[in-house]
Amino acid sequence: MKGLRIALLSLAVVLMAIAPALAAPVTIKFSHVVAVDTPKGQAAEYFKKLVEERSNGEIKVEVYPNASLYDDRDAIEACSLNAVQIVAPSFSKYTSFVPQLQLFDLPFLFNDVDHLHMVLNGPVGKELLAKVEKRGLVGLAYWDNGFKQLSANKPLIKPSDAAGLKFRIMSSKVLEAQFKAVGANPQVLPFSEVYSALQQGVVDGQENTLSNIYTKKFNEVQSDLTLSNHGYLGYMVVTNKIFWKKLSAKQQALIQQAMDESTVYGNKLALELNADYLDKIKATGKTTIHELTKEQRNAWKKQMMTIYPEFNEVIGKDLIDGSLAAGM
Ligand code: LMR
Repeated sequence: MKGLRIALLSLAVVLMAIAPALAAPVTIKFSHVVAVDTPKGQAAEYFKKLVEERSNGEIKVEVYPNASLYDDRDAIEACSLNAVQIVAPSFSKYTSFVPQLQLFDLPFLFNDVDHLHMVLNGPVGKELLAKVEKRGLVGLAYWDNGFKQLSANKPLIKPSDAAGLKFRIMSSKVLEAQFKAVGANPQVLPFSEVYSALQQGVVDGQENTLSNIYTKKFNEVQSDLTLSNHGYLGYMVVTNKIFWKKLSAKQQALIQQAMDESTVYGNKLALELNADYLDKIKATGKTTIHELTKEQRNAWKKQMMTIYPEFNEVIGKDLIDGSLAAGM
């Protein structure tokens, strides 16, 4: 009898020891809307590589680029329902979830990437990262893309050149106001529909980063591109809160570490790729590139920045002032 008890006990100890190894592997579905050859596309692939290598296959990452699984706003909803476990939408797509994130859409808010990083890594960035928790999400990182440029089928040199034109925008009230401030007509469209909307003349122009423009061929259906650097396009990477809480502390640490390293990797690439893609757009010889003089850029700045007071309440004047002050 005693022998049987000892044998059963030993069996239980062995089973407990091997249980983690037998546990079902965790699968992370990572959905995004851009091409693989973009800063976000590459950072997502790098994240997959790190997580799968370091977890010895215990954690699997399936990356779905090009809106192959979910489009724009649907992606955030899908993540809050745990249909996918990681998404990295641009700030503008969070408007109805965390309206304060429209801070990053404010035109001419950041002098350069260092200024942006100071805000993202400081108290403002931390406060905003925590806000997604109320929506059943956990903020894992901020990823860069870059500054947006304007394009249309005519040169956009002065703000009045945009008057009367229809511009595709992401779903942000700030972006809507920004285009209205120059007399243009903004129209919200998912990223996956921009190319055909430009091609068919549903909209006349758009704003985006050079990597998004080139990898989705927007330049092929726009005769003119203005290097306006008027606003910033970046991402908040989030995961589902329930999914996250179910992971062991070790798994969470592994994922967060891989995320932090992918952030460094992707942000470096963001600077390189946007420069590369400018050369590639130039090389096609099909789109005329316009650089603005300081005075010309200031004219856009003056007119677009008139919208700031409208957003003091929804974004928070303290967040806007804090971000501006970080650049002084
Ligand atoms: C857009 O819709 O233009 C961007 O948010 C796409 C992206 O994720 O970079």
